Amino acid sequence: MKLRKAVFPAAGFGTRFLPVTKASPKEMLPLVDKPLIQYGVEEAVACGLREIILITGRGKSAIEDHFDYSLELDTILERRGHRDLLEEMRKISNMSICYTRQKEPLGLGHAILCARPLVHDEAFAVFLGDEVLDAPIPVMAQMLAVYERQGCSILAVQRVPREQVFRYGVIEGEPAGNGLYRVRDVVEKPQPEEAPSDLAIIGRYILTPPIFDILEQTPAGKNGEIQLTDAIRGLLRDQAVYALEFEGQRFDAGDKLGFLQANIVFALKRPDLGPELRQFLRTLRLG
Ligand code: G1P
Repeated sequence: MKLRKAVFPAAGFGTRFLPVTKASPKEMLPLVDKPLIQYGVEEAVACGLREIILITGRGKSAIEDHFDYSLELDTILERRGHRDLLEEMRKISNMSICYTRQKEPLGLGHAILCARPLVHDEAFAVFLGDEVLDAPIPVMAQMLAVYERQGCSILAVQRVPREQVFRYGVIEGEPAGNGLYRVRDVVEKPQPEEAPSDLAIIGRYILTPPIFDILEQTPAGKNGEIQLTDAIRGLLRDQAVYALEFEGQRFDAGDKLGFLQANIVFALKRPDLGPELRQFLRTLRLG
């Protein structure tokens, strides 16, 4: 069956980005002129995933407002003749999105479990919104092509410097050609000396429905949270899982440096901003 559903966990506190995230969701931080979450949602829609499920929490209502109609704004744009902007606003508010809440901050695995009543019994995609991926072919489309062949869970992975593996879920995999690995094990946030490889899981997953039963049974792991990586380890006992080393550049926009880098790269590509920004950057005479 074709994948239809995309789950976006968006209940986290954004502690890496305080103080701006004290009263505003990190998912609403602007990447040039669109909130981070919109990039992920557009990637999902571009890949044919039409049912978007957002897992939010307290203090996240700005996300719902963003994807809602704003009659006042539409009226003003129409009156002032801003047709392009109006069309863009309508595209955003026409997306079909369901919301559910993660009521306690019990981890990524628990957030995914909150989506169960909306996903039911079918395979689904997961997008971590602070991972911004700039790729010639959307990363989820690259993963869907593998899913169509393999019919099992697929993880997006990328090589990271060894000393940074403690920030990620890390796979042990057997190369299967064309950037694909048959996953043998996964470990959440290992110390560099314990890590099975330098292939880190990067914010995009395709998961099969048995993950939910496993998540129900998964105890708190790293940092006292229910970890999705631990549940994927459980999935490996019964099912094949593949990891795809995708083509594209990744920015960790939940991190201040990654966010600034993403903003510069994305703005440089914009015809309305790029040339002047490039000129300005030249004046900085960076060492
Ligand atoms: C989460 C996952 C981790 C993954 C990472 C990718 O960690 O638990 O396995 O590698 O996202 O960004 P977090 O960054 O939420 O601590």
